[in-house]
Amino acid sequence: MKNLTADELRETYLKFFESKGHAIIPGASVIPENDPTVLFTTAGMHPLVPYLMGAMEHPAGTRLTDVQKCVRTGDIDEVGDAAHLTFFEMLGNWSLNDYFKKEAISWSFEFLTTKLGFSPDQLSVTVFRGEGKEGEPGYIPADEEAVAIWKSLGIPDERIYRLPREDNWWGPAGTTGPCGPDTEMFIDTGRPKCGPDCRPGCHCGKFVEIWNDVFMQYNKNAEGKFEPLGRHNVDTGMGVERTICMMSGAPTVYDTEIFAPIMAKIDELSSPEAVAALSADEALKARRVIADHMRTATFILCDPKGGVKPGNVGANYVLRRLIRRAIRYSRMLGIGEGFTVKMAETVCAKYKHVYPELAANLETCRNDLAQEEKRFNATLDKGEAMYNKVAEQLKAHGQSQISGKTAFKLYDTFGFPIELTLEMAAKDGLTVDKDGFDEANRKHQELSRTTSAGSFKAGLQDNSEVVTRLHTATHLLHAALHKVLGPTANQKGSNITAERLRFDFAWPQKMTDEQKAEVEKLVNGWIEQGIEVTKKMTTVEEAKAEGAMALFGAKYGDQVSLYTIGDVSKEICCGPHVQNTKELGSFKIKKEEASSAGVRRIKAVIGNM
Ligand code: ALA
Repeated sequence: MKNLTADELRETYLKFFESKGHAIIPGASVIPENDPTVLFTTAGMHPLVPYLMGAMEHPAGTRLTDVQKCVRTGDIDEVGDAAHLTFFEMLGNWSLNDYFKKEAISWSFEFLTTKLGFSPDQLSVTVFRGEGKEGEPGYIPADEEAVAIWKSLGIPDERIYRLPREDNWWGPAGTTGPCGPDTEMFIDTGRPKCGPDCRPGCHCGKFVEIWNDVFMQYNKNAEGKFEPLGRHNVDTGMGVERTICMMSGAPTVYDTEIFAPIMAKIDELSSPEAVAALSADEALKARRVIADHMRTATFILCDPKGGVKPGNVGANYVLRRLIRRAIRYSRMLGIGEGFTVKMAETVCAKYKHVYPELAANLETCRNDLAQEEKRFNATLDKGEAMYNKVAEQLKAHGQSQISGKTAFKLYDTFGFPIELTLEMAAKDGLTVDKDGFDEANRKHQELSRTTSAGSFKAGLQDNSEVVTRLHTATHLLHAALHKVLGPTANQKGSNITAERLRFDFAWPQKMTDEQKAEVEKLVNGWIEQGIEVTKKMTTVEEAKAEGAMALFGAKYGDQVSLYTIGDVSKEICCGPHVQNTKELGSFKIKKEEASSAGVRRIKAVIGNM
């Protein structure tokens, strides 16, 4: 096999699929546009869901390829081992109801063997073994078609594994959406099998997954049922980090050229004495957690869509957790204050030629990190003081165990992480009722989960419809603001959940009640008029010449979709939108408040929300 750098791999991949008739499209934001079902973009297919569903045509055609920034934080606690990452780049190629299994599999094979130089003998593959009985509901046949294609390419039957849904079914990215059986490709590292059942999918390290070709012919609906999609799409995903790791022969992703400058920076900032006080495993885990989390946090904070800041809910909370976890581990390595900014600069230097947003947004990212680091250090200091008080009182009463309730209070009320309580207690010769803490934590989480589940009024199926309607409402609101406040009231940001729309726009002061009433009246008037919403494909230049509003700083491919609502609104936008404004029912502003300096924020709802 060859030994490519990440830069070379991206380029080789995109060029290869370009030579097979694919349009190279820009990767999307890592913060999803108008999708309440996920917090971050988790796979290359995610931004393409409306096109995979057939809801609209993609402006670049039916064969697409790109590199997508992805964030997956489900396994955040596993980070620190050899394999887990919360951020990765995914290479992908798509057929939007164009080619299918034969081409997808043959090109995967050709790319792996000729462009990456893997030997066909190193390759093992898995395919979906099917489920249910023919003629009965829910029956999905085994993917013998994929088997036959692999065989025709020279992969012998003993290296083709037929596996169940747990292994060979992909998607959807959110709770509903396009999905289907897949065929996964594994490189055999040549190590001995860990046991008689060792096979691709086993985590012993013998077989490493390199690529996944998904054949999307189904849609998972709100009832959790798989219904035929009526289209044959291909969705593939190859992780850059893992592939580079395998090609270079590095033992882990952290030992590749991708992480080299990041790890070097951590080592430069670490105190040798602090490191010497740790076991080798502890120090290694700390380095990896910091490298992973700070890389992810930098990409989130520099994202062109913006809007995710360290906080206590949703994506903001995930970001805060990443940064704070990195800070905790940095303290173990004796790294001093201000390190998050240095890490962000290092990540930026490594990636900015591929992702210009890193350089463009570094300044705000730096500020956000410095502020969060300061806040967390203050929290830690306060927590430490509280902990000391608890410890003193216990000792004064001749007790030696911190109760689970107290440990949870330190964590929940003072933000003092349980790991620190455990560490400090151990130093003071005290024990902690960890089971009691876990129990209190579990109860608390159950409670918050029930609350947030309850707050989803609309059923899941309705979410996408509501979002579509709110999307159109956003265009009407934008147009009304221009009419009422003038042409400087430009969009600064937008976020839509199944509950409301949120719209940020440039305006220096609080809107008056009259202005708000006027905006509502205009939007409701347009809704009542039942104006048709039309879409056409055009270029950015032509759309602008027609007077279209284009989103701040967004990147566009050559062809864009231009949505026109009568003579009310014209915006370049990916959609989706309703066909007629009357589908919105009615429009109401719930809140108008400051967002940041010179930017106001409106939250609004439609229909009977
Ligand atoms: N969407 C597929 C994956 O993430 C390709 O593996």
